[in-house]
Amino acid sequence: MTDLATILASARAEFAACTDAAALENAKARYLGKAGALTELLKGLAQLSATDRPAAGAAINDAKRELESALAARRAALADAKLAAQLAADALDVSLPGRGRGAGTLHPLSRVLERFESLFRSLGFAVADGPEIEDDFHNFTALNTPENHPARSMQDTFYVEGGMVLRTHTSPIQVRYMETHAPPIKIIAPGRVYRVDSDATHSPMFHQVEGLWIDRDVSFADLKGVLTEFLRRFFERDDLKVRFRPSFFPFTEPSAEIDMAFGDGGWLEIAGSGQVHPNVLRAVGIDPEQYQGFAFGMGPDRLAMLRYGVNDLRLFYENDLRFLRQFA
Ligand code: FA5
Ligand code: MG
Repeated sequence: MTDLATILASARAEFAACTDAAALENAKARYLGKAGALTELLKGLAQLSATDRPAAGAAINDAKRELESALAARRAALADAKLAAQLAADALDVSLPGRGRGAGTLHPLSRVLERFESLFRSLGFAVADGPEIEDDFHNFTALNTPENHPARSMQDTFYVEGGMVLRTHTSPIQVRYMETHAPPIKIIAPGRVYRVDSDATHSPMFHQVEGLWIDRDVSFADLKGVLTEFLRRFFERDDLKVRFRPSFFPFTEPSAEIDMAFGDGGWLEIAGSGQVHPNVLRAVGIDPEQYQGFAFGMGPDRLAMLRYGVNDLRLFYENDLRFLRQFA
């Protein structure tokens, strides 16, 4: 039976050489299929004598079983190899450094505004707001600033269609709030405002935080007390250099601008303020014989300059990441 041994050897070699399942099934057909080499041998048994036939038949059947188990082993080996290759291809290198995602941070002006809100809330003020596109009445007239009043040109600004104006200050929110609320009133109102301005301490779009406290006996001493206390808390120090400088606003009487020490012996104006003018109270139906109080309009962008030591306020509006990252 040299034939049988040769067939077995070459089948084993072919199975081993197969590198995928399809090739292996083709090889199987060449030996065990209908016209396969081993099958042909079985058919040849018929020509053998009755005495030789059983031994030959048994030998061929042994060979067939051997080939079948070799085939099964090769199938399993190919499946294992395929799985291993797939796992290797999908592998994650857990030792690689992460790509990282910038943590992000609030803009320094947003932080300053949040600080305003929380400090004024702690002093008993609620937070209100109003529209950035304002009508002439609320921005000027109701604030005791009639048409042709020279104070209007101090706040030269951007007019939009229909006689509307990009508000030049947050003071119109005082009017809107008093139109809809009766005293006692104790609010701040932060927001963006617009003027035709641009230098190191002026930006064409900037922020103000309006303050308004109206009750039966809110005095100018309260104005000084509240603002001084706020500034102490804001800058976290007691030895602040603050001055109240007499000034003029049509909507307050008396009026003061508030300055803080800045640079070498200089001062930086941070707010306008004063006792709300009786005409403003009358215009919103509040009796100035019964109620009085103060208002202020502070520039949080200027406070950000002072707090962070920035010498040009416009830097806050350029969105240059090299600048902004310093506050992260
Ligand atoms: C006013 O706008 C008044 N409405 C303030 C006020 C409110 C007075 C209530 C009395 C009662 P003034 O124009 O001074 O006032 O502006 C107030 C503050 O806004 C200034 O002190 C300054 O801190 C800030 N400010 C003004 N213009 C600019 C600008 N272009 N860029 C950045 N900050 C500015
Ligand atoms: Mg001013």
